[in-house]
Amino acid sequence: MYSIVNKLYLQSLMTNDTMTNDRLIAPSILSADFGNLQRDIEMLNQSESDWVHVDIMDGVFVPNISFGFPVTEVSFKYSTKPLDVHLMIVEPDCYLKRFKDAGAASITVHIEACPHLHRTVQAIKQLGCRAGVALNPHTPVAMLEDIITDLDLVLIMSVNPGFGGQHFIENTYKKVADIKALADKHNPNLFIEVDGGVDQNNVAKLAATGANVFVAGSSVFSAPSPSSMISTLKHA
Ligand code: DX5
Ligand code: ZN
Repeated sequence: MYSIVNKLYLQSLMTNDTMTNDRLIAPSILSADFGNLQRDIEMLNQSESDWVHVDIMDGVFVPNISFGFPVTEVSFKYSTKPLDVHLMIVEPDCYLKRFKDAGAASITVHIEACPHLHRTVQAIKQLGCRAGVALNPHTPVAMLEDIITDLDLVLIMSVNPGFGGQHFIENTYKKVADIKALADKHNPNLFIEVDGGVDQNNVAKLAATGANVFVAGSSVFSAPSPSSMISTLKHA
């Protein structure tokens, strides 16, 4: 029987394979067509994308509400690629297990929403997920100095979280350089992810600065050929 455990195992193998690539593309389904979500996820399955980015917004931590468990479960059901779940919610600890059960391969929480970040990160790892921490544009990378060795992933927000289709904040390059320097010193296998306003004009410079995972919502799903845009982002 093809169980959820088997699927998670196969997806983790795929993640290990893609770890050898220096640039991973994680299209955000926030910009997908929810009336045709299965179709859009099957398009991603056929594309050069590596992860599927799942944006969860609660209307409290950010001024918008996106979707929750049912959409995450459906995404997991149809995706052959690992789900990269980004929690833009307060009190994420209450929901970690439910997102793991919904199919999350990685779970990223916001440092600004976690007063006991070390405990939250350990809880994510105990569930068997990759543990990520996201920083809002105003939050300095130095806040991660005492937890960097515990992390699998750092997500640098390059827009203020809450909406797709916003303009990329230029100070992101400095923050990527800062986290890359910290990672080189203390955690060289860290995934450095950039989220917000990523497109074909900034992806190469971000990669050269040290980022290796790129979330892309509107640049992918509003392109004439989303699949071609994913290839462009991967190789630009
Ligand atoms: C924003 C989300 C992003 C969003 C990115 O709060 O975290 O993942 O989907 O969308 P684009 O690529 O359109 O900026
Ligand atoms: Zn996101």
